[in-house]
Amino acid sequence: MNDYAPEPQIIILDTGGQYTHLISRKVRELGVYAEVRPSETPASEMANAKGVIVSGGPSSVYEPGSPTMDPALLRSGIAVLGICYGQQLMAYLLDGQVRKGDKGEYGIAHLDIQVQAPIFAGVENHRQVWMSHRDTVFAPPSGYQVLASTSTCAVAAIGNVAARKYAVQFHPEVVHTHEGRKVLHNFLFDICGCSRDWEPASRVPVVENSIREVAGRRNVFFFVSGGVDSTVAYTLCLKALGDERAHGAYVDTGLMREGETEFVRTIFASLGAKNFHVVDARADFLGALRDVTEPERKRHIIGEKFVEIQQRILESGHYLDGDWILGQGTIYPDTIESGGTAKADLIKTHHNRVAGIQKLIDENRIVEPLTQFYKDEVREIGRELGLPPEFLERHPFPGPGLAIRCLCQEADAPLVPTSLGHIAPVHSVGVQGDSRSYRPVLIVDHLDHAKATEAINTDMRVNRVIGVIGSNAPVASLTVFQSAITEERMDRLRRVDAIVRKLSHESGYDRSVWQFPVVLISLGAGAQRDSVVLRPIDSVDGMTAQSVPIPPALHAAMAAQLLAVEGIAAVFQDLTHKPPGTIEWE
Ligand code: XMP
Repeated sequence: MNDYAPEPQIIILDTGGQYTHLISRKVRELGVYAEVRPSETPASEMANAKGVIVSGGPSSVYEPGSPTMDPALLRSGIAVLGICYGQQLMAYLLDGQVRKGDKGEYGIAHLDIQVQAPIFAGVENHRQVWMSHRDTVFAPPSGYQVLASTSTCAVAAIGNVAARKYAVQFHPEVVHTHEGRKVLHNFLFDICGCSRDWEPASRVPVVENSIREVAGRRNVFFFVSGGVDSTVAYTLCLKALGDERAHGAYVDTGLMREGETEFVRTIFASLGAKNFHVVDARADFLGALRDVTEPERKRHIIGEKFVEIQQRILESGHYLDGDWILGQGTIYPDTIESGGTAKADLIKTHHNRVAGIQKLIDENRIVEPLTQFYKDEVREIGRELGLPPEFLERHPFPGPGLAIRCLCQEADAPLVPTSLGHIAPVHSVGVQGDSRSYRPVLIVDHLDHAKATEAINTDMRVNRVIGVIGSNAPVASLTVFQSAITEERMDRLRRVDAIVRKLSHESGYDRSVWQFPVVLISLGAGAQRDSVVLRPIDSVDGMTAQSVPIPPALHAAMAAQLLAVEGIAAVFQDLTHKPPGTIEWE
């Protein structure tokens, strides 16, 4: 649905790289509207664009079946910029040479500019660039000059200035390329002649108009999760259609964070939403999860319960009748099949689809006001709508809620000492290559990420390593207890999660991490039968992630408060990157 956005001046061709959306976001940050398209989009469908950027990707251009592009684009008058795989693809499709390099080039390099072409206007020589490649262009195609090199890569940039075709081996879209923004700026404004046409906050009136058009005389119903996307989308509908016509429901599953339900209630009360309801389904969810320990079954049961309760709400409120349509908070990356969480779905089950919702989708009775926007742009719109900043800056939170952070055990079991530490038979999900692992965790007495990574590579029995931050009893004396999801444990997890959130917010640490799950595992001693695992990570999109160190003063403060919570025996930090661990434990 393109009603909410202008025609894109820049099209990003997606060759499967994890940075495709980052390129698009960087272009939009420069004020130019860009959209991502499949790499093989015919050149004729891009005739109205001012420029095309061909993204990086993991394949090799010379391997059969690898992503390609319409060669006509390279002969057309449209300006083109190839990045990484994009450079190799352009060289390969013309008559250049691409082969595997003698060695790879991963990380920081310095760019020697040999030809001051317009793409490098105002870019200083020898600046830092970020590289990630093994395949290399050895000879540029005819008509193209080598513009720059690095100590490892003789062809780090090529160009045919008259034809307005450029390509670079480095990644201008990442922060480690110090003049990357300048390179993109040169391409957009000097080479393509783009104008500034994109400022998300100023699009609110356009979006509201589109909502009125799509709805016509019909009313809109929303399931609000408490997350940023559904809240902003529902708020837009409230403003566009008014309270009488925009209804909403929030299901309290009992698996939410402390204060969450009240928070959501307060926000919509302050917006004057009379037809917004909190549905108390705590007993349904906790009842269904009572004896479940296996993560996939947990997810499945939560999904099924959601389906059942949403269906009940849709039917009892008559929202399936012809005069209602469904609103959804779908954002731009969710709409692109090759990006986002397509791969994550293989590792863990995500949302189920409600039959009633499917019927509404099939009948095209859906309004999705945010499908053109990235998360940061949704936040800008939220600010424009007056939603509280602390709400808009929230970290992502998984649909199944705290249930997948409350680990359960079938039976009591002791720790197993090893040369590297202690193995606890608390299983968690990992991802190695494209496949799922489900293995115990290794407890170590340090917080060294490099040593932790080495330990996982050494001991194939485990897929995760946690380091001790503090404990009320010697770690060697802890054991694993049989456990389930109970109201008592959920309350305990809510309390420790709230403590961690408060301290990381007050110290400003929450701004330096992408997400900070807090996990409860049933490892303890005596009456203290649970322990807390802190899992702060940095990430771009959740597909890969790095475990982030916690400053000693902060983890000391956290440990002090957490160890005082009733029932808590020890506090750990998860030192595992993704891969081989996943972000969530289940
Ligand atoms: P993993 O654990 O797969 O998580 O590394 C990647 C990102 O996805 C989030 N996540 C979910 N989000 N429903 C969601 O809406 C889910 O079932 C779900 N499982 C994981 C997770 O919080 C992280 O940001």
